[in-house]
Amino acid sequence: MIMDELAKLTTAVLASYKYRYISPELVRRIGARELAVRHDFKEAVKATKNKLHQVGGAYFMTRLDYDRALADLRAAAGDEVAWRAACRQVMALHASTRERLSILEEFYAITLADLPPVHTVLDVACGLNALAWLWMPFGAQTRYLACDMYADMMAFVADFMRLAGIAGETAVCDLIGDPPTQPVDLALLLKLLPVLEQVEETAVPRLLDALQARYLLISFPTASLGGRRKGMTASYEAQFWRWAAGRKWQVQRFAFATELAFLVSCAAA
Ligand SMILES: C[S@@+](CC[C@H](N)C(=O)[O-])C[C@H]1O[C@@H](n2cnc3c(N)ncnc32)[C@H](O)[C@@H]1O
Repeated sequence: MIMDELAKLTTAVLASYKYRYISPELVRRIGARELAVRHDFKEAVKATKNKLHQVGGAYFMTRLDYDRALADLRAAAGDEVAWRAACRQVMALHASTRERLSILEEFYAITLADLPPVHTVLDVACGLNALAWLWMPFGAQTRYLACDMYADMMAFVADFMRLAGIAGETAVCDLIGDPPTQPVDLALLLKLLPVLEQVEETAVPRLLDALQARYLLISFPTASLGGRRKGMTASYEAQFWRWAAGRKWQVQRFAFATELAFLVSCAAA
């Protein structure tokens, strides 16, 4: 059987080391768009890889060695100071959690201070944020559900959760094609929305419509990955209010040095 262009493109992208653990659904989605606009197979493969790099690969500070990270965490288990240091070390390997390290002591304590007990939290496009569990004001009664587009990262997060004694589960997802719909108390959408918008303009409203959460913690970076700051906070804030328009939300705003956050109380969930 002759493979069609899209299947061929998906296979080609998933064959390269950097992209092999990415949700095949997301590769197909981006690939289909690129094939439609480029008409040249090689160009479409290249553009698909570029887009996947932009939304995921660019955040890795180095090629992650998950076995090594897990071994370091195992060695630190049982000693609270060493454990916190090991968690910080792993978070530093992904640009998004790395940027949060300087505000970690205050970020969750302040933004989530007024919430009633959280029984389920859904970390949407979690990256390595599970490693911040000790800094989140949750307890043994809280279930942590985490998803991201990388299968190897999600396997690591599941191993980490077992080691840390965190109840919950992980999933590999494509948030654009298949946004999560399970009812939860709190959904974390940390530095995610601008990333989704880079792929499809309607992805953010569709995700916000699909989520069934009583509270949302939505955040934005205050500088680009390259360190550029000019006007970013203001433009993300304006963007946030455009997405919020027409929704029955109550919003609290928090400005940190490296992150702008909004705690949203959703009226009907
Ligand atoms: C800026 S990082 C934020 C990570 C984490 N929320 C944090 O704040 O530390 C964006 C994350 O979105 C994930 N991602 C991007 N597009 C996605 C998609 N369509 N489906 C699932 N995950 C996606 C990336 O792999 C990456 O981990």
